[in-house]
Amino acid sequence: MVDLSTNYLGLKLRNPLVPSSSPLSRHLDSARRLEDAGAGALVMHSLFEERVEEEGTGQGHYFQPRSTTPDQTTAKQPVATSAMRYEEQYLEHLAALKSSLEIPVIASLNGTTPGGWVDYASALQEAGADALELNVYYLPALSRETGTEVEDRYVEILESLREQISIPIAMKLSSQFSSVVYMAQRLQRAGADGLVLFNRFYQPDIDLETLEVVPRLELSNSGESLLRIRWIAILHGRVDCSLAITGGVHNVKDVLKSLLAGASVSAFAVLLVIGLLLTDRRPEETP
Ligand SMILES: Cc1cc2nc3c(=O)[nH]c(=O)nc-3n(C[C@H](O)[C@H](O)[C@H](O)COP(=O)(O)O)c2cc1C
Repeated sequence: MVDLSTNYLGLKLRNPLVPSSSPLSRHLDSARRLEDAGAGALVMHSLFEERVEEEGTGQGHYFQPRSTTPDQTTAKQPVATSAMRYEEQYLEHLAALKSSLEIPVIASLNGTTPGGWVDYASALQEAGADALELNVYYLPALSRETGTEVEDRYVEILESLREQISIPIAMKLSSQFSSVVYMAQRLQRAGADGLVLFNRFYQPDIDLETLEVVPRLELSNSGESLLRIRWIAILHGRVDCSLAITGGVHNVKDVLKSLLAGASVSAFAVLLVIGLLLTDRRPEETP
Protein backbone atom coordinates (compact mmCIF):
# COMPACT_ATOMS: atom_id res chain seq x y z
CA MET A 1 0.00 0.00 0.00
CA VAL A 2 1.20 3.50 -0.79
CA ASP A 3 2.56 5.34 2.23
CA LEU A 4 0.51 8.52 2.62
CA SER A 5 1.78 9.30 6.09
CA THR A 6 2.73 12.82 6.89
CA ASN A 7 3.98 14.98 9.70
CA TYR A 8 1.72 17.73 10.97
CA LEU A 9 2.61 19.85 14.01
CA GLY A 10 5.18 17.21 14.87
CA LEU A 11 2.47 14.52 14.91
CA LYS A 12 2.79 11.52 12.64
CA LEU A 13 -0.46 11.16 10.67
CA ARG A 14 -1.31 8.15 8.54
CA ASN A 15 -2.44 10.49 5.76
CA PRO A 16 -2.96 14.21 5.25
CA LEU A 17 -6.79 14.25 5.29
CA VAL A 18 -8.22 15.73 8.43
CA PRO A 19 -11.81 16.77 9.14
CA SER A 20 -11.74 20.44 10.13
CA SER A 21 -13.30 21.81 13.25
CA SER A 22 -17.05 21.21 12.94
CA PRO A 23 -20.03 19.53 14.61
CA LEU A 24 -18.79 16.23 13.13
CA SER A 25 -16.67 15.84 16.26
CA ARG A 26 -19.55 16.37 18.66
CA HIS A 27 -20.65 12.74 18.71
CA LEU A 28 -18.47 9.75 19.31
CA ASP A 29 -20.14 7.72 16.59
CA SER A 30 -19.55 10.34 13.88
CA ALA A 31 -15.97 10.77 15.08
CA ARG A 32 -15.44 7.00 14.87
CA ARG A 33 -16.94 6.97 11.38
CA LEU A 34 -14.45 9.62 10.32
CA GLU A 35 -11.61 7.56 11.73
CA ASP A 36 -12.95 4.41 10.03
CA ALA A 37 -13.22 6.36 6.76
CA GLY A 38 -9.51 7.10 7.01
CA ALA A 39 -9.14 10.50 8.66
CA GLY A 40 -5.54 11.19 9.61
CA ALA A 41 -6.55 13.19 12.69
CA LEU A 42 -9.61 15.00 13.99
CA VAL A 43 -9.97 18.67 14.83
CA MET A 44 -12.69 19.18 17.44
CA HIS A 45 -15.46 21.77 17.26
CA SER A 46 -14.31 24.87 19.12
CA LEU A 47 -14.50 25.91 22.70
CA PHE A 48 -15.76 29.47 22.25
CA GLU A 49 -14.50 32.39 24.30
CA GLU A 50 -17.90 34.07 24.09
CA ARG A 51 -19.63 31.03 25.60
CA VAL A 52 -17.02 30.79 28.34
CA GLU A 53 -17.36 34.49 29.12
CA GLU A 54 -21.15 34.41 28.80
CA GLU A 55 -21.50 31.63 31.32
CA GLY A 56 -19.00 33.39 33.52
CA THR A 57 -21.03 36.60 33.41
CA GLY A 58 -24.30 34.77 33.81
CA GLN A 59 -23.16 32.76 36.78
CA GLY A 60 -21.06 35.56 38.20
CA HIS A 61 -19.51 33.49 40.92
CA TYR A 62 -17.06 31.30 39.13
CA PHE A 63 -15.08 33.92 37.28
CA GLN A 64 -12.95 36.45 39.09
CA PRO A 65 -11.41 39.54 37.50
CA ARG A 66 -7.69 39.53 36.99
CA SER A 67 -5.44 42.42 36.09
CA THR A 68 -2.10 41.17 34.93
CA THR A 69 -1.61 44.11 32.60
CA PRO A 70 -3.42 47.45 32.47
CA ASP A 71 -5.26 46.60 29.28
CA GLN A 72 -6.50 43.28 30.64
CA THR A 73 -8.31 44.69 33.65
CA THR A 74 -11.62 43.44 32.38
CA ALA A 75 -10.35 39.97 31.58
CA LYS A 76 -11.80 37.14 33.59
CA GLN A 77 -10.05 34.26 35.22
CA PRO A 78 -11.84 30.97 35.64
CA VAL A 79 -12.05 29.49 39.10
CA ALA A 80 -12.88 25.82 39.26
CA THR A 81 -16.33 25.06 40.62
CA SER A 82 -18.98 22.53 39.76
CA ALA A 83 -20.79 25.21 37.74
CA MET A 84 -18.36 25.03 34.82
CA ARG A 85 -20.74 23.12 32.62
CA TYR A 86 -19.79 24.27 29.15
CA GLU A 87 -16.06 23.96 29.64
CA GLU A 88 -16.32 20.75 31.60
CA GLN A 89 -18.49 19.17 28.96
CA TYR A 90 -15.89 20.06 26.36
CA LEU A 91 -13.10 18.55 28.44
CA GLU A 92 -15.11 15.41 29.10
CA HIS A 93 -15.88 15.06 25.42
CA LEU A 94 -12.22 15.51 24.54
CA ALA A 95 -11.28 12.78 27.01
CA ALA A 96 -13.98 10.51 25.54
CA LEU A 97 -12.73 11.13 21.99
CA LYS A 98 -9.20 10.38 23.09
CA SER A 99 -10.20 7.06 24.60
CA SER A 100 -12.27 5.94 21.62
CA LEU A 101 -10.04 7.08 18.76
CA GLU A 102 -6.55 6.08 17.78
CA ILE A 103 -5.90 9.07 15.54
CA PRO A 104 -4.62 12.32 17.08
CA VAL A 105 -7.29 14.63 18.45
CA ILE A 106 -6.69 18.36 18.04
CA ALA A 107 -8.69 20.56 20.40
CA SER A 108 -9.87 23.95 19.19
CA LEU A 109 -10.13 27.31 20.92
CA ASN A 110 -12.04 30.12 19.26
CA GLY A 111 -11.78 33.65 20.56
CA THR A 112 -10.43 37.12 20.08
CA THR A 113 -8.81 38.35 23.30
CA PRO A 114 -5.95 37.18 25.49
CA GLY A 115 -8.31 36.96 28.49
CA GLY A 116 -8.84 34.32 31.13
CA TRP A 117 -10.57 31.89 28.76
CA VAL A 118 -7.14 31.11 27.32
CA ASP A 119 -6.36 29.43 30.64
CA TYR A 120 -8.43 26.46 29.49
CA ALA A 121 -5.61 25.50 27.17
CA SER A 122 -3.75 23.76 29.98
CA ALA A 123 -6.89 21.81 30.91
CA LEU A 124 -7.20 20.73 27.26
CA GLN A 125 -3.62 19.55 27.33
CA GLU A 126 -4.22 17.64 30.56
CA ALA A 127 -7.36 16.08 29.09
CA GLY A 128 -5.17 14.56 26.37
CA ALA A 129 -5.31 16.92 23.40
CA ASP A 130 -2.52 16.04 21.00
CA ALA A 131 -2.41 19.62 19.76
CA LEU A 132 -4.42 22.80 19.89
CA GLU A 133 -5.86 24.83 17.05
CA LEU A 134 -6.48 28.49 17.81
CA ASN A 135 -9.06 30.21 15.67
CA VAL A 136 -8.92 33.96 16.22
CA TYR A 137 -12.29 34.67 14.68
CA TYR A 138 -11.95 38.42 14.67
CA LEU A 139 -13.60 40.99 12.42
CA PRO A 140 -11.66 44.24 12.93
CA ALA A 141 -14.51 46.75 12.81
CA LEU A 142 -13.19 49.37 15.24
CA SER A 143 -12.07 52.60 13.58
CA ARG A 144 -9.50 53.25 16.31
CA GLU A 145 -7.77 49.88 15.88
CA THR A 146 -4.80 49.87 13.54
CA GLY A 147 -3.65 46.99 11.40
CA THR A 148 -0.64 46.52 13.65
CA GLU A 149 -2.90 46.27 16.68
CA VAL A 150 -4.97 43.62 14.95
CA GLU A 151 -1.82 41.64 14.27
CA ASP A 152 -0.65 42.14 17.85
CA ARG A 153 -3.91 40.67 19.05
CA TYR A 154 -3.19 37.39 17.28
CA VAL A 155 0.35 37.28 18.59
CA GLU A 156 -0.63 38.12 22.17
CA ILE A 157 -3.20 35.35 22.32
CA LEU A 158 -0.71 32.92 20.86
CA GLU A 159 1.98 33.98 23.33
CA SER A 160 -0.32 33.57 26.29
CA LEU A 161 -1.23 30.10 25.06
CA ARG A 162 2.39 29.23 24.45
CA GLU A 163 3.23 30.13 28.05
CA GLN A 164 0.73 27.61 29.32
CA ILE A 165 1.03 24.54 27.16
CA SER A 166 3.73 22.43 25.61
CA ILE A 167 1.59 20.64 23.00
CA PRO A 168 1.80 21.96 19.43
CA ILE A 169 -0.31 24.97 18.48
CA ALA A 170 -1.78 25.64 15.05
CA MET A 171 -3.08 29.12 14.23
CA LYS A 172 -6.16 29.24 12.03
CA LEU A 173 -5.90 32.51 10.17
CA SER A 174 -8.04 34.92 8.27
CA SER A 175 -6.86 35.76 4.76
CA GLN A 176 -7.31 39.44 5.49
CA PHE A 177 -3.82 40.51 6.45
CA SER A 178 -1.90 43.17 4.56
CA SER A 179 1.15 40.95 4.53
CA VAL A 180 0.34 37.28 4.99
CA VAL A 181 3.98 36.15 4.81
CA TYR A 182 5.16 38.69 7.38
CA MET A 183 2.30 37.72 9.70
CA ALA A 184 2.96 34.02 9.21
CA GLN A 185 6.62 34.45 10.09
CA ARG A 186 5.73 36.56 13.11
CA LEU A 187 3.38 33.87 14.38
CA GLN A 188 5.97 31.20 13.80
CA ARG A 189 8.50 33.17 15.85
CA ALA A 190 5.87 33.58 18.60
CA GLY A 191 5.57 29.81 18.87
CA ALA A 192 3.08 28.60 16.26
CA ASP A 193 3.83 25.05 15.13
CA GLY A 194 1.45 25.29 12.22
CA LEU A 195 -0.73 27.64 10.20
CA VAL A 196 -4.20 26.78 8.94
CA LEU A 197 -5.31 28.72 5.86
CA PHE A 198 -7.93 30.18 5.91
CA ASN A 199 -10.81 30.69 8.20
CA ARG A 200 -14.21 31.38 6.61
CA PHE A 201 -16.36 34.05 8.19
CA TYR A 202 -20.13 34.00 8.47
CA GLN A 203 -21.60 36.19 5.76
CA PRO A 204 -24.82 37.77 6.96
CA ASP A 205 -27.27 38.44 4.15
CA ILE A 206 -30.18 40.87 3.83
CA ASP A 207 -33.66 39.48 3.20
CA LEU A 208 -35.18 41.90 0.67
CA GLU A 209 -38.73 40.85 1.59
CA THR A 210 -38.47 41.40 5.34
CA LEU A 211 -35.51 43.83 5.23
CA GLU A 212 -34.01 41.78 8.04
CA VAL A 213 -30.39 40.76 8.36
CA VAL A 214 -30.22 37.00 7.96
CA PRO A 215 -27.38 35.12 9.62
CA ARG A 216 -26.05 32.80 6.97
CA LEU A 217 -23.37 30.19 6.63
CA GLU A 218 -22.96 29.38 2.96
CA LEU A 219 -21.13 26.16 2.42
CA SER A 220 -17.93 26.56 0.47
CA ASN A 221 -17.19 25.50 -3.08
CA SER A 222 -14.06 24.30 -4.80
CA GLY A 223 -13.31 27.77 -6.13
CA GLU A 224 -12.53 28.93 -2.61
CA SER A 225 -9.63 26.53 -2.35
CA LEU A 226 -7.68 28.50 -4.97
CA LEU A 227 -7.01 31.44 -2.65
CA ARG A 228 -5.68 29.00 -0.05
CA ILE A 229 -3.62 27.05 -2.54
CA ARG A 230 -1.97 30.26 -3.71
CA TRP A 231 -0.99 31.25 -0.18
CA ILE A 232 0.17 27.76 0.76
CA ALA A 233 2.46 27.91 -2.28
CA ILE A 234 3.72 31.37 -1.33
CA LEU A 235 4.35 30.38 2.29
CA HIS A 236 6.03 27.13 1.36
CA GLY A 237 9.69 27.55 2.13
CA ARG A 238 9.15 30.85 3.87
CA VAL A 239 7.96 29.52 7.21
CA ASP A 240 9.43 26.75 9.28
CA CYS A 241 6.19 25.19 10.45
CA SER A 242 3.38 22.96 9.24
CA LEU A 243 0.88 24.27 6.74
CA ALA A 244 -2.74 23.20 6.50
CA ILE A 245 -5.37 24.19 3.99
CA THR A 246 -9.01 24.48 5.00
CA GLY A 247 -11.77 25.88 2.88
CA GLY A 248 -13.09 24.69 -0.45
CA VAL A 249 -11.51 21.25 -0.45
CA HIS A 250 -14.35 19.16 -1.85
CA ASN A 251 -13.00 16.60 -4.27
CA VAL A 252 -9.97 14.68 -5.43
CA LYS A 253 -8.84 17.46 -7.75
CA ASP A 254 -8.89 19.99 -4.93
CA VAL A 255 -6.82 17.61 -2.82
CA LEU A 256 -4.30 17.03 -5.59
CA LYS A 257 -3.94 20.74 -6.33
CA SER A 258 -3.41 21.44 -2.67
CA LEU A 259 -0.72 18.83 -2.48
CA LEU A 260 0.91 20.10 -5.65
CA ALA A 261 1.16 23.51 -4.02
CA GLY A 262 3.95 21.93 -2.02
CA ALA A 263 2.96 18.81 -0.13
CA SER A 264 4.96 15.65 -0.55
CA VAL A 265 2.04 13.22 -0.29
CA SER A 266 -1.36 12.94 -1.93
CA ALA A 267 -4.66 11.83 -0.54
CA PHE A 268 -8.33 11.84 -1.39
CA ALA A 269 -11.64 12.13 0.37
CA VAL A 270 -14.80 14.12 0.12
CA LEU A 271 -16.34 15.37 3.34
CA LEU A 272 -18.68 18.22 4.06
CA VAL A 273 -16.09 20.09 6.04
CA ILE A 274 -12.56 19.05 5.45
CA GLY A 275 -9.12 20.26 6.23
CA LEU A 276 -6.32 19.01 4.07
CA LEU A 277 -3.08 19.02 5.93
CA LEU A 278 0.04 19.53 4.02
CA THR A 279 3.32 18.09 5.16
CA ASP A 280 5.85 19.78 7.34
CA ARG A 281 8.28 21.55 5.12
CA ARG A 282 11.48 23.30 5.96
CA PRO A 283 12.36 26.68 4.54
CA GLU A 284 14.34 26.57 1.36
CA GLU A 285 14.89 30.28 1.33
CA THR A 286 14.69 33.10 3.79
CA PRO A 287 13.20 36.19 2.19
C1 LIG B 1 -21.18 23.79 10.36
C2 LIG B 1 -19.78 24.28 10.56
C3 LIG B 1 -19.28 24.42 11.84
C4 LIG B 1 -17.97 24.89 12.04
N1 LIG B 1 -17.48 24.99 13.31
C5 LIG B 1 -16.23 25.47 13.50
C6 LIG B 1 -15.70 25.61 14.80
O1 LIG B 1 -16.34 25.29 15.82
N2 LIG B 1 -14.44 26.10 14.93
C7 LIG B 1 -13.66 26.45 13.86
O2 LIG B 1 -12.52 26.86 14.04
N3 LIG B 1 -14.15 26.30 12.59
C8 LIG B 1 -15.39 25.83 12.40
N4 LIG B 1 -15.88 25.71 11.13
C9 LIG B 1 -15.01 26.07 9.98
C10 LIG B 1 -14.40 24.81 9.37
O3 LIG B 1 -13.54 24.17 10.30
C11 LIG B 1 -13.60 25.09 8.10
O4 LIG B 1 -12.43 25.82 8.42
C12 LIG B 1 -14.37 25.90 7.09
O5 LIG B 1 -15.72 25.52 7.07
C13 LIG B 1 -13.76 25.74 5.73
O6 LIG B 1 -13.88 24.43 5.28
P1 LIG B 1 -15.01 24.01 4.22
O7 LIG B 1 -14.72 24.74 2.97
O8 LIG B 1 -14.85 22.53 4.03
O9 LIG B 1 -16.33 24.40 4.81
C14 LIG B 1 -17.17 25.23 10.92
C15 LIG B 1 -17.70 25.09 9.63
C16 LIG B 1 -18.98 24.62 9.45
C17 LIG B 1 -19.51 24.46 8.04
